[in-house]
Amino acid sequence: MAITQKKLVELLNMDLELEYSAAIQYINHAAVMTGAAYGDIIKELKVHANEEVQHAMTLADQLDYLGGSPSVKVGEIHTSKDNDKMLGQDLEGEEDAIRRYKLRIEQAEALKEFALAQQLRTILAVEQEHAMDLKQALGR
Ligand SMILES: [Fe+2]
Ligand SMILES: [Fe+2]
Repeated sequence: MAITQKKLVELLNMDLELEYSAAIQYINHAAVMTGAAYGDIIKELKVHANEEVQHAMTLADQLDYLGGSPSVKVGEIHTSKDNDKMLGQDLEGEEDAIRRYKLRIEQAEALKEFALAQQLRTILAVEQEHAMDLKQALGR
């Protein structure tokens, strides 16, 4: 099925909701995580939280430009008391984001929304960095 502007707005709103939930999840995990060995990644999680908020702002602006109403709903949030389980939850979220943004770039280009595609590429590159930070912390 060919992508339409309306469908793209719906999908970008889902992406926006998942950026909000990613920011909240990182804030929670950075606060709950303990242990000297996790000091460096705790700092990284706080950086990630801020970057997810930036992504949310970019998507909200793009949604407004496309004539959509930016969602204020928040996607699913995963929590745990175990450090490595939390990092695994964060990595799953990043891998999902990478899959979604790769597809979203193709969809934006199919509609000749090249500026949107460019913004999505920038977000994708940051999500890939997030995934690499988490894999390193998990020793994967
Ligand atoms: Fe993000
Ligand atoms: Fe991310």
